[in-house]
Amino acid sequence: MDTKDLIKEALNARNESYAPYSRFRVGAALLCLDGSVIKGCNIENSSYGLSNCAERTAIFKAVSEGRRGFEAIAIAGGMEDEPGDYAYPCGACRQVMREFCSPEYFRVIVAKSINDYREYTLKELLPESFGPDSLI
Ligand code: THU
Repeated sequence: MDTKDLIKEALNARNESYAPYSRFRVGAALLCLDGSVIKGCNIENSSYGLSNCAERTAIFKAVSEGRRGFEAIAIAGGMEDEPGDYAYPCGACRQVMREFCSPEYFRVIVAKSINDYREYTLKELLPESFGPDSLI
C-alpha cells in the first residue's frame, strides 16, 4: 500500500473519532508487515484522563488481533472538518510505537491531506529511546 492510500485510511478513521470534549478529531491507519491496515480514532471520556489517542487505539487493536510487526502509521487530526495542521503523535504514543516498531524503519506520516504530508522515522521523533532491547 502506498503512502497516499494509507493517509486516505487515516482520514476515514478520523470520521469515527469520539471527541465531544476537545473537538480535536484524530484518525490513524497502521500498516502491518503482513499488508493489513488497522484503523484507530481518538476516544474521549467524560472522565478526561481516560481518553485514548487514535494511534494507541490502532496499535492496541492490531496487537490484540495478533499483529506484532509494523511498517508505517498515518495520522490525521485537527479541530476542523479538514485537518488544518500536521497532528504529531504525543509522547505516550511514540513510546507505545517503540515497543513494537523499529526506530530506524518504522515511518510516521502526519497528514493534512493525501497531497500534503510529512514523513519521519520513529527514531527522528523519539531519539535515544528506551525500549524492549534496553532490558536484555
Ligand atoms: N490525540 C490523539 O488522538 N493523538 C495524539 O497523538 C495527540 C492527541 C487526541 C487525544 C484527545 O482526544 C485529543 O486529541 C486532544 O488532546
